[in-house]
Amino acid sequence: MVQVSPSILSADFGSLKDEILKLERGGADFIHLDVMDGIYVPNITFGPPVIKKIRGITDIPFDVHLMVDKPERYIKNFVDAGADIITVHEESTTHLHRTIEEIKSYGLKAGVALNPSTPLNNIDYVLDYIDMVLIMTVNPGFGGQKFIGSMERKIRSLRKTIEDRELDILIEVDGGIKLDNAKDIIDYGVDVIVVGSGIFEAEDVSKRTKMFREL
Ligand code: DX5
Ligand code: ZN
Repeated sequence: MVQVSPSILSADFGSLKDEILKLERGGADFIHLDVMDGIYVPNITFGPPVIKKIRGITDIPFDVHLMVDKPERYIKNFVDAGADIITVHEESTTHLHRTIEEIKSYGLKAGVALNPSTPLNNIDYVLDYIDMVLIMTVNPGFGGQKFIGSMERKIRSLRKTIEDRELDILIEVDGGIKLDNAKDIIDYGVDVIVVGSGIFEAEDVSKRTKMFREL
């Protein structure tokens, strides 16, 4: 069964507590937190203080997606804020292996994200050290964009590599996942779907979360 990591990027930030509790009632497997710095991506969201504040609302693991330039500067801050998985972009850090090792040294799970134009080859030599690959299926920065079709081949290819090398890595996909395309995307070989607008556009957020989990 696919796991669902709802992104609060499309939530009502004025009622974050209620929004998170709705996701919990819907059975969310993770809470996906999109951290944007205005440099790595053309948008700014929130950072460790906000994450620390909302940490007490639920026990659901926090899946923190850093869209931040040189994220190695802030790993400890996100650990202290209560992250369970920290995902950094391959394109954002010069010494990727070192950044992964730092995340793991705190006992957290480490993920690496790839922009749509970044080849899988770029992470070939770190696959042995990570817990998750986040395949961006839109260009990062905003919710509500359209799924990029060529990511099907990327997801399938990663799934094959994971099987061939017998790796213990989750494939997470992020961007443009809606009720009408989610089933096909899951069948490409996905373990975790991130869904932002596809959940928060619904009248009943809990029910919609549940619908994604039952696909
Ligand atoms: C985009 C973020 C996504 C975003 C997805 O940069 O990483 O997590 O919230 O939003 P939707 O599901 O609306 O495409
Ligand atoms: Zn994200």
